[in-house]
Amino acid sequence: MGSKPVTRPLPQSTQSATAGLFVTFEGGEGSGKTTQIQRLAERLRDEGHRVTPTREPGGSPGADALRDILLSGAAEPLGNDMEAILFAAARIDHTDVVIRPALRRGEVVLCDRFLDSTRVYQGGASAGDPDFLTILEEATLDGLLPDLTLILDLPAEVGLRRAAARRGTDAADRFERQDVLIHEARRQAFLAIAKAEPGRCVTIDASADLDTVSAAIWAAVRERWTQRTPGPESANAVRR
Ligand code: TYD
Repeated sequence: MGSKPVTRPLPQSTQSATAGLFVTFEGGEGSGKTTQIQRLAERLRDEGHRVTPTREPGGSPGADALRDILLSGAAEPLGNDMEAILFAAARIDHTDVVIRPALRRGEVVLCDRFLDSTRVYQGGASAGDPDFLTILEEATLDGLLPDLTLILDLPAEVGLRRAAARRGTDAADRFERQDVLIHEARRQAFLAIAKAEPGRCVTIDASADLDTVSAAIWAAVRERWTQRTPGPESANAVRR
């Protein structure tokens, strides 16, 4: 008897498939994504929502197994395309095992980095082949797109200083080690994505103080949720 074929869930977008909300956080090093995700998760939970915070690369056991390879720089000599494929492999596992199930349960998924990081780090700023990345992205996401992408924007130099202070004596990862000009080019690439996809992306000024950034994020989430689930009687409506 032959082994069973491996199957993946049928293509579906979060928008049509679930009552959940898929929010991704993007931006350069030290832009404060992690802190802001914690704050937003807390506020949503206070309002009675179920929240799944997660991050990339990683977020599921299979993807976490690739995280060290990607961040240590071990995959760097294999070239940009190979690195993009490894990020994609990690993302497929993460979406199948964690993100899609949580959205189906109606939860709010807050993901620290997602598809735009691949576009920016493996694409724009590194001059990868855009066709290759587009095909890879379509195959990886299989119809799953964030409902909202928050791009936390600040000058690369400021972000790198913050990241170095946070790291203390720990070594910088493969990406943090790169030149400030590369980081600034990535910032511009994130801003270009935000401009090209205003329906999905909202740019947040991450150089402001923590509370101001949190308030801007809350406003963006509330607005997106209102668009998704009109009417205060909705179980999923975010309260004012
Ligand atoms: P990490 O240590 O998780 O922190 P942060 O998100 O705060 O920077 O670093 C993840 C690194 O991986 C980051 O430098 C960006 C990079 N990355 C890619 O190059 N491509 C991707 O698709 C993803 C998700 C991350």
